[in-house]
Amino acid sequence: MSLSLPHGGTLVDRLDESYDFSQIVNEVELDDFALSDLKLIANGAFSPLTGFLGKLDYESVVNNMRLADGTVWSIPITLPVTEEKASQLSLGEEVKLTVNGVTYGVITLEEKFVPNKVVEAAKVYGTTEVAHPGVKKLFDRPNVYLVGSITLVKKIEADRFQEFYLDPTETRSEFNSLGWKKVVGFQTRNPVHRAHEYIQKAALEIVDGLFLNPLVGETKSDDIPADVRMESYQVLLDHYYPKNRVFLAVFPAAMRYAGPREAIFHAIVRKNYGCTHFIVGRDHAGVGDYYGTYDAQLIFSHFTEKELGITPLFFEHSFYCEKCGNMASTKTCPHSKEDRIILSGTKVREMLKNGEIPPAEFSRKEVVEVLIRGLAAKEVSVAR
Ligand code: ADX
Repeated sequence: MSLSLPHGGTLVDRLDESYDFSQIVNEVELDDFALSDLKLIANGAFSPLTGFLGKLDYESVVNNMRLADGTVWSIPITLPVTEEKASQLSLGEEVKLTVNGVTYGVITLEEKFVPNKVVEAAKVYGTTEVAHPGVKKLFDRPNVYLVGSITLVKKIEADRFQEFYLDPTETRSEFNSLGWKKVVGFQTRNPVHRAHEYIQKAALEIVDGLFLNPLVGETKSDDIPADVRMESYQVLLDHYYPKNRVFLAVFPAAMRYAGPREAIFHAIVRKNYGCTHFIVGRDHAGVGDYYGTYDAQLIFSHFTEKELGITPLFFEHSFYCEKCGNMASTKTCPHSKEDRIILSGTKVREMLKNGEIPPAEFSRKEVVEVLIRGLAAKEVSVAR
């Protein structure tokens, strides 16, 4: 037994800082979303992708959750540009991928096509409503998709918590040096509350290590900012987790809020980082009431474990139960709703913003202190 093989068999590496792009004339300015996709294709997190999806792969992913060759892939990774920009570019040419005039990547243009975004929204997000933040983003971005393999010609330096940005080759080597053979990945876009801690530790009982891998790319504006969360994770790990059993690194992807489809995607990406197991709890990557509580677990039954190459670990809705006197779930607790401490994300964010302290049974005091302080500091800087 060893760490998972990368999805598709080989870890993609598309970084070449010696790449000569001095003769390339045309360029495409990337938004934050595309920049993070570029980075994650290049560093192998999105293996086996080597570029932005072509029409055939795109349609196959949208309709069947597979690339055209049958490899499981559930979220389209695309490079949208305006019609005007697309019309200036010719097939076969190399195009610089820039941000504020700095060239980070090069794409060899193989194709450009106009997607049917209504179909993409309905299939990938299960809705075409723009109240859904993933769908809104999809519709807000421009309407022509560029296709082609990419090269990352300049490393994208993190502007914060640099030491937590690790590429899949690096996390794999960390897991190896820790002697971990079985590693469970944990995706989160939230602070780690008691329920998260409970399912992480339950999973940890059957594997060697926990890879705490918070998403720190673009999230919707009312999610807790990544820098505040990062501090809260470190405080929590310092106080409540054994050092040699947890590894913290960030996942610099944008959040899609695609629920079930994103759970598959999140699992595959964590497999590329070296995980053998992946936690899927209640309403994974969900938003509002768009998905059923366990839809993100049920979707795994479409695929064999062999073709996924990572073992999902499913957890029921967890909470603290006053009568049990401990953390429990709908699977283990016989008591009623009234005995359970359950707070919605929205409610907790509201409390924290008002400086109110959620109960210790919901969130550790050390975590709450960091969150209240961090959010208050943000308010001050926004007000200024
Ligand atoms: S997510 O959008 O990144 O999935 P979140 O950070 O809230 O959101 O969840 C991280 C992981 O913990 C997901 O797998 C989610 O299903 C799981 N989870 C969150 N809260 C609970 C809970 N109370 N009980 C069980 N699983 C949970």
